[in-house]
Amino acid sequence: MSVCKGIYHVLIYAKTEHKVALRMVLIPILNLNMEKRIVIVTGGAGYIGSHTVVALHESGYRPVIIDDFSNSKPEVLDGIAKITGVKPQLFSLDCRSKNDLLEALQSCTADGEVAGVIHFAAYKAVGESTEKPLDYFENNIGSTVSLLAAMSESGVSNLVFSSSCTVYGQPDQIPVDESAPILPAESPYGYTKQACERLIMDAFKSSMPLSACLLRYFNPIGAHQSANIGELPIGHPNNLIPYLTQAVAGLRNPLTVFGNDYPTEDGTCIRDYIHVMDLARAHVASIAWLESNSPSCEAFNLGTGTGKSVSEVIAAFEKTNGIEVPYAFGPRRSGDVVAIFANAEKAHRELGWNCEFNLEEALRDAWKWQLQLAQA
Ligand code: UD1
Repeated sequence: MSVCKGIYHVLIYAKTEHKVALRMVLIPILNLNMEKRIVIVTGGAGYIGSHTVVALHESGYRPVIIDDFSNSKPEVLDGIAKITGVKPQLFSLDCRSKNDLLEALQSCTADGEVAGVIHFAAYKAVGESTEKPLDYFENNIGSTVSLLAAMSESGVSNLVFSSSCTVYGQPDQIPVDESAPILPAESPYGYTKQACERLIMDAFKSSMPLSACLLRYFNPIGAHQSANIGELPIGHPNNLIPYLTQAVAGLRNPLTVFGNDYPTEDGTCIRDYIHVMDLARAHVASIAWLESNSPSCEAFNLGTGTGKSVSEVIAAFEKTNGIEVPYAFGPRRSGDVVAIFANAEKAHRELGWNCEFNLEEALRDAWKWQLQLAQA
């Protein structure tokens, strides 16, 4: 276990006379750590996963990461350790393998009390999913099937699933709440989110002991305030903020704003941008909620409740960070909905969760992260 390794190294390098004192301090810390309830985080080295690992640690849980680093880097664990002081335990495996998952889950249940699993591990590029639908179906749906089977066999029953507001398509009413219909998916990626939600709901209705929160994210942006972790898009970023920050840093061509002829006030699309640490804390609240509300299976919208247009985001970024965004208007991107933002009342009420950060703070942290990457 990485905590043990860390302590071992400290003890080796300490001078002999300090060893006893160090032991007196470190062994109680180790014991405390062992008593913490474990939360298994698949995709814990990814963007939202790594921030959630930090939030879990800060709330007194012991996060254990499962990741195969297919879209993340092992160094992310060092960034987490810089913030929390603890490098999380890691199982490096592909979530499609039920046997590997089962082994990891059983190892965790043998090690302590498991409060639940948060399942992030999935492919997430909408455009790529239209090119590689089989990969998306196999990976995203396949790994959820394997995870549910491994949970059932290992007696772990609480699941928090990483879903998306994309399940709503363009809703008739905004802000959209959880009772809005699930519309036919625009992309294979969107379909996998709908299919996994359905799979989890069907498993919940069966005899399998399961409780679940289906968390429908709006647009997560920003980074941890320390800039030790953030979004690490591999290759060309598809989402607005990582592209924008890379364009401002001179690493990309100017940002293309996809369409300024939409039926909105300034002609650009409207979204609900939520600070990734607020989103991360909602996962902790979901685990706590499941611990005291089982058996349940509920969907929750996670957004700020406020819609901002692309032009408003650009203006807010420039004002907050005092730097100009190079951009030009271009054609619409296929599959984009005009406007969507959350009614997150259910999450406020049930989970006791609220956003702490506003758009400006999220854009400040996104830029701080980009600057830190440039120095690394
Ligand atoms: C996208 C996905 C959504 C997924 C989410 C994950 C699509 C259609 N939807 O949401 O399913 O859950 O990411 O984070 O891809 N924009 C530009 N220029 C750019 C990039 C984006 O103008 O270079 C605009 C888009 O048109 C949109 C807004 O910025 O209006 C946000 O786009 P993006 O960050 O890609 O998120 P979504 O499309 O909302």
